Amino acid sequence: MTSVQETAAQEFLSGMRIAASGVTVVTANGEGATVSAMNSVSSDPPSLLVCLYKGTRTESAIDRKRGFCVNILGESHSAIARVFAGMQQAEERFPKDQWISSPVTGSPLLKDAVASFDCEVDQRIDYATHTIFIGQVRHSQVRDHAPLIYSNCNFHGLGKLPANTT
Ligand SMILES: Cc1cc2nc3c(=O)[nH]c(=O)nc-3n(C[C@H](O)[C@H](O)[C@H](O)COP(=O)(O)O)c2cc1C
Repeated sequence: MTSVQETAAQEFLSGMRIAASGVTVVTANGEGATVSAMNSVSSDPPSLLVCLYKGTRTESAIDRKRGFCVNILGESHSAIARVFAGMQQAEERFPKDQWISSPVTGSPLLKDAVASFDCEVDQRIDYATHTIFIGQVRHSQVRDHAPLIYSNCNFHGLGKLPANTT
């Protein structure tokens, strides 16, 4: 990388660090990783994408299984996010009272997640350092509680804005 490219990369990382995102744990075949690079693609068919570093255990597991489950974390799940990011150790990463198998792909599903989407891989895109998986959603489970947010290297709750009076 030239110094101009390095500066551009640093500026990009600074900007992305401040951007706020939801936090998910993407699971497949007994593996799991904390992932913020998740987005919807379409509702026809219901589909979403996740971006995973090449060479992570979860990326390999998705390739083997051709399926994965996206678990959107709630405000009370920051410890789970740390465990699946490798920032915190846990005796058991998938305790049986918190996790079950998803109905279609058999991937770990967090019972208390804000929402879980059980997906079959429809497309796999190889891009630089990452693999982008587009999954067709075969089963969704939704609970009504506040999501966990990640911004500026910290976890946050969803602070409410004052009511708009204009
Ligand atoms: C808030 C947060 C968001 C993350 N988002 C991603 C992501 O979108 N894609 C990714 O590949 N890794 C992401 N990571 C890093 C992975 O969680 C980390 O590399 C993990 O240890 C991979 O685990 P594995 O090798 O067991 O699959 C994120 C980490 C944190 C703390």
